[in-house]
Amino acid sequence: VPDDLNIRPATEADLGPLLGLYRHLSPEDIQLGGDVADAIWAAMLRASGVLPLVGEVDEQLVTTCILVVVPNLTRGGRSFAIIENVVTHPSYRRRGFGTAILREAIDRAWSMNCYKVVLTTGSKRESTLCFYEKVGFKRGTRTAFEMRR
Ligand SMILES: CC(C)(COP(=O)(O)OP(=O)(O)OC[C@H]1O[C@@H](n2cnc3c(N)ncnc32)[C@H](O)[C@@H]1OP(=O)(O)O)[C@@H](O)C(=O)NCCC(=O)NCCS
Repeated sequence: VPDDLNIRPATEADLGPLLGLYRHLSPEDIQLGGDVADAIWAAMLRASGVLPLVGEVDEQLVTTCILVVVPNLTRGGRSFAIIENVVTHPSYRRRGFGTAILREAIDRAWSMNCYKVVLTTGSKRESTLCFYEKVGFKRGTRTAFEMRR
């Protein structure tokens, strides 16, 4: 882990800075705020198996991802995990922070007895896909489908 990065589970006070970071995830996304965001954040922090992680440098949030662990009755009762919303602030990229927060999320998944961690991305950028591969995710082993409304 880069030595100036502090990774921890997010807390209530991280909402504002986290919403700021998310603007760099998909700039065209709807900006949440106010009571709506407060209510969703409270629900996220209460929900079991939902773990938003943040990485800070000098008390600034610079990287984040969310880990979701799903209890499971197959695979001998081992859980599976999903990682979503991976982003590093543009001014702090290429310093290993994205790798570090993903490693932390993966370590936590293994320590919670998950048999797999799934991560999908809509990104077509080869640099982003390589980033995930370097962390250890395999490409092309599964076929992903999605439906949206
Ligand atoms: C993808 C992203 C999370 C990477 O975060 P990061 O903190 O820069 O990642 P790291 O510094 O740990 O990068 C590790 C390696 O990934 C590769 N990589 C990451 N970004 C790269 C880029 N823009 N070009 C080339 N290689 C890149 C490099 O090999 C890098 O290692 P290096 O710095 O030694 O070259 C970040 O670029 C980002 O937030 N992008 C916009 C949001 C996004 O696309 N999120 C994923 C959607 S699912």
